[in-house]
Amino acid sequence: MTAFDAIAGTVRGGTLYGIGVGPGDVRYLTLRAAALVRDVDVVAFFAKRGLQGNARGIVDLLIKPGRTELRLEYPVTDEIPPEDLSYQEQVARFYGESAELLSAPLRQGKSVGLLAEGDPFFYGSFMHMWRRLEADFPVEVVPGVTGMSGCWTRANAPITWGNDILSVLPGTLGEDQLTRRLMATDAAVIMKVGKNLAKVRRAVEAAGLLARALYVERGTMQGEQIMPLAECPDGNGPYFSMVLIPGEGRRL
Ligand SMILES: C[S@@+](CC[C@H](N)C(=O)[O-])C[C@H]1O[C@@H](n2cnc3c(N)ncnc32)[C@H](O)[C@@H]1O
Repeated sequence: MTAFDAIAGTVRGGTLYGIGVGPGDVRYLTLRAAALVRDVDVVAFFAKRGLQGNARGIVDLLIKPGRTELRLEYPVTDEIPPEDLSYQEQVARFYGESAELLSAPLRQGKSVGLLAEGDPFFYGSFMHMWRRLEADFPVEVVPGVTGMSGCWTRANAPITWGNDILSVLPGTLGEDQLTRRLMATDAAVIMKVGKNLAKVRRAVEAAGLLARALYVERGTMQGEQIMPLAECPDGNGPYFSMVLIPGEGRRL
């Protein structure tokens, strides 16, 4: 047994693993995550219709041909706003069906690793499977380096100093709410920027924080872009985009 295997641990049949695969660069996987990606009987992942799947893409180099994979394809993602009743009905039904698909190999005693971008318990779709399955099957969650952690590292932007309060805000919030929250914090991470980029920029400017705000697209991945939010071109950002507002607290 290699030192890697000894540290990374074993895989138990009939167990669901929520595997955090980190912010994008495959080298940021934990040892436990890398071993599970290699060893589970079934590698499961969520994907947008017609695309590879973000988490699956991150671990592509670690998956040899011939592995058993379970692709869980969303019926809808950002085509309809999440507040829309039709979105909620379709996605809730999809999560129910996905939990059933994951249950089948688990009942046969197989190990299933469900890949999750970043950390599985941080705005992760994995949580919807965890909620449905954890009463019936053993579940192990493997934490991952969050996207925001990867982004502030790559932007060379320490995010909190001294007593700074950090707010993590979804860019899907309304403009007024975003502005209010930004005015009340020392440091901020704005997630889910994509189609909300113009609104996010207006809110950051209204809160008087534009001069400090950084825009990070595809942090740690191929095609990474980092720039002041003020210089970011108009239009939508991609799915993997966020805004960072570093704190200015105590520096000794
Ligand atoms: C549904 S959340 C998933 C968060 C993930 N579980 C995590 O721990 O980072 C997706 C959002 O995370 C942000 N994100 C995650 N990884 C990123 C990256 N490498 N670069 C830029 N944004 C990222 C984007 O704002 C994206 O819309």
